[in-house]
Amino acid sequence: MAESPLLQIEDLRAYLFTRGSVVRAVDGVSFSVNEGETLGLVGESGCGKSMTCLAIMRTLPAPSGRIVAGRIRFQGVDLVGVSEAEMRTYRGRRISMILQDPNTSLNPVLTVGEQVAEPMRWHQQVQGKDLKRRVVEALRRVKIPAPEMRVGDYPHQMSGGMRQRVVGAAALACEPHLLLADEPTTALDATVQAQYLALLKDIQEQAHLAIIFVTHDFGIVAHMCDRVAVMYAGKIVETAPVKALFHHPSHPYTVALLNSVPKLRERVDRLYSIEGEPPPVDQVIPGCSFAPRCPSPEERCSREPPPTMDLGDSHHANCWKLA
Ligand SMILES: Nc1ncnc2c1ncn2[C@@H]1O[C@H](COP(=O)(O)OP(=O)(O)O)[C@@H](O)[C@H]1O
Ligand SMILES: [Mg+2]
Repeated sequence: MAESPLLQIEDLRAYLFTRGSVVRAVDGVSFSVNEGETLGLVGESGCGKSMTCLAIMRTLPAPSGRIVAGRIRFQGVDLVGVSEAEMRTYRGRRISMILQDPNTSLNPVLTVGEQVAEPMRWHQQVQGKDLKRRVVEALRRVKIPAPEMRVGDYPHQMSGGMRQRVVGAAALACEPHLLLADEPTTALDATVQAQYLALLKDIQEQAHLAIIFVTHDFGIVAHMCDRVAVMYAGKIVETAPVKALFHHPSHPYTVALLNSVPKLRERVDRLYSIEGEPPPVDQVIPGCSFAPRCPSPEERCSREPPPTMDLGDSHHANCWKLA
């Protein structure tokens, strides 16, 4: 398959300016996503995964959130520079997002049919019978049983899993090229989660859809992703094809994250967890932000930012110990 980067992010910085402090939620992030590819974005809670997605959508929390530097090149256009009016032609059409909790994405007073219809009416001016047919099709695509019977339902009349499918139907209604899936299955129970992931994979293959899959679940990464970017304290510390990441994790943070996952069939008395906590995001750290938690830091680690080391075969890690 010929691959060309659909999305190319360069040195993206998205900060939150709150009273008296600056939260550097996304602090110099670079990565790319090819057409039809799934990139996993992993890391502990609070490391900036959601803010990265919101920056791409240009929907950072207002008024505190702002993109202060960098480029978000999507199909050759730098989204950082486009007007809000132009951005609206991307959002929900060429780039869509699915959030963790379907209840925050769905409007409780509108029927599911109306909510799936909305992006098609807005972006593609579909109306009347055509719109009705397209809505039923969209619900069928996400395998909602008897969709023509469900279009008039309100969100509360559906199960959590079905609600998240409706969110998926709305996100995919205009056939986007890129889907930002921010922990889309975290709120679902295990069986429903597995079904949802299988569904996403199916749709992705049919539609040649690229996905940024935000998760902290390495099981999902192994199952869903082609490549992985590991994020720590607002920065990407390692990127690699999935297999390479599991077999040769190179950044000490990635190693620690993988060690904290309980292995199947292995009896553990206590779950391994990473010592310490991520640094406060409103502080500027001169060197590597993982240095205070690193099991074997070197002297320069806390002084100078680590270089990006090319480990071959599209594997990169930012660590002095690899230099
Ligand atoms: N509305 C907000 N105002 C100020 N800080 C925020 C806001 N939302 C998130 N943050 C901070 O931004 C950082 C990144 O958060 P986030 O991207 O949500 O992390 P993740 O998705 O990786 O768990 C965190 O330190 C979080 O506390
Ligand atoms: Mg998040």
